[in-house]
Amino acid sequence: QEQIAIAIDGPAAAGKSTVSKMVAKELSFIYIDTGAMYRAFTYKALRDQISLEDEQKLSELLADTNIELEQGKNQQHVLVDGEDVTHDIRSEEVTNHVSYTAKHPNVRREMVKRQRGLAQKRCVVMDGRDIGTHVIPNAEVKIFLKASVEERARRRYEENLQKGFSTDFEKLKQEIEQRDRIDSKREIAPLIKADDAIELDTTDLSIDEVAASILNEVKKVL
Ligand code: C5P
Repeated sequence: QEQIAIAIDGPAAAGKSTVSKMVAKELSFIYIDTGAMYRAFTYKALRDQISLEDEQKLSELLADTNIELEQGKNQQHVLVDGEDVTHDIRSEEVTNHVSYTAKHPNVRREMVKRQRGLAQKRCVVMDGRDIGTHVIPNAEVKIFLKASVEERARRRYEENLQKGFSTDFEKLKQEIEQRDRIDSKREIAPLIKADDAIELDTTDLSIDEVAASILNEVKKVL
C-alpha cells in the first residue's frame, strides 16, 4: 500500500472529525484528531487552574503531560496521563477555552512536534487547523472543509439534541464564530487554507457526499 497522508483542515464544527473518521475507516488509515490533543491539554490546564495567558507555565505543564489517542472498539479514546477524558474534553468549558491555550507559540511548537511524530508512519488522516500548512505540509492530499456558520451551528444543535440536550442556537453560533475568530487571528499557524488544499464547501452536502469527494481525491494520488 502507498504511504500517504491526508490533511483535513477547516473552521469549528465543519464536520472534519466525522468525515475524517469515515475516510480513515474506508482506507484502513489511522485517524488523528489534533483538536482532541489541544482539548485534552486545555482540560488539564483548567483543572490545575493554570492561567491560560501564562505561556511559560503552560509550556511547563505540557512538557509534563502525556496525551494518548487510543483506538477503542467503537470509538477513539483520549487519555491524559492515563486518565480517560474522552467525554470531558467536549464540555462547553473546554470548548470555549481551548483557543486560548492553542494560540501560544510554545504550546503549538510542542503539539506540532508530537503530531509530526504520529504522522511519520503515514497512512494517516489528520484533522485540525494547521495540518496542511504546518504539521504535514507535504501531505499527499489536503482538504479544506468549510460551511456557513448557520449550517455549522445547526449541525451542532442537532448533534446536541441527539445527545439529549437542547442548546441556544444563537449562543452556539456566537461561540463558533468566536472560536474561529481567535483561531484565524492568532500569530502562529492561524486557521487558513493551504495554497494547494482543495476547498470543499459542505453547506449543502451530506456527510456521505463529503466523504466520497475526499475519497475521490485520494484515488487520484494512489
Ligand atoms: O477540532 P476541534 O474543534 O476539536 O479543535 C479545538 C480547538 O483546538 C480549535 O478551536 C483550535 O483552537 C485548536 N486547534 C488548533 N490546531 C489544530 C487543531 C485544533 O489550534 N491543529
